[in-house]
Amino acid sequence: ATGRHSVTLTVNGAVHALSIDARTSLLDALREHIGLTGAKKGCDHGQCGACTVHVDGRRIVSCLTLAAQAQGHEVTTIEGLGGDDGALHPMQQAFIDHDALQCGYCTPGQIMSAVACVHEGHAGSLDDIREYMSGNLCRCGAYVGIVAAIEDAAVKMQG
Ligand code: FES
Ligand code: FES
Repeated sequence: ATGRHSVTLTVNGAVHALSIDARTSLLDALREHIGLTGAKKGCDHGQCGACTVHVDGRRIVSCLTLAAQAQGHEVTTIEGLGGDDGALHPMQQAFIDHDALQCGYCTPGQIMSAVACVHEGHAGSLDDIREYMSGNLCRCGAYVGIVAAIEDAAVKMQG
């Protein structure tokens, strides 16, 4: 069915009442209707991870999630990851410290996925990190830095 639907989304703690097509993806709702452009549209088909955000703390690819499915849940994007005082999340700092980005296009998705990877308990070894981050592609090939950043931030997040 087409036509406008009312969807209320809670994103980074703020409530947004939207009137959108029922088939609008969460990614498009965030970028085009709420104005949060941190999550990137790489493939729009669930294959690159650039659009990764958290729903109730779990990582999802927002291009394959309907905005309506996120209603009643807490959505967190890269814009909401840092502290209220503007402090960077330890994962963001680690990406800077380890030169884990080049063009930066994949980076918001990498960081959201990386934080979830640590929370899932999948950052205990470099092999684990590589395996559980394999859904996040980087065309620039910054993988060495990305894996090192996650290993470093995992210690700081748990310690
Ligand atoms: Fe969603 Fe590529 S844009 S996985
Ligand atoms: Fe360019 Fe990853 S830093 S795509």
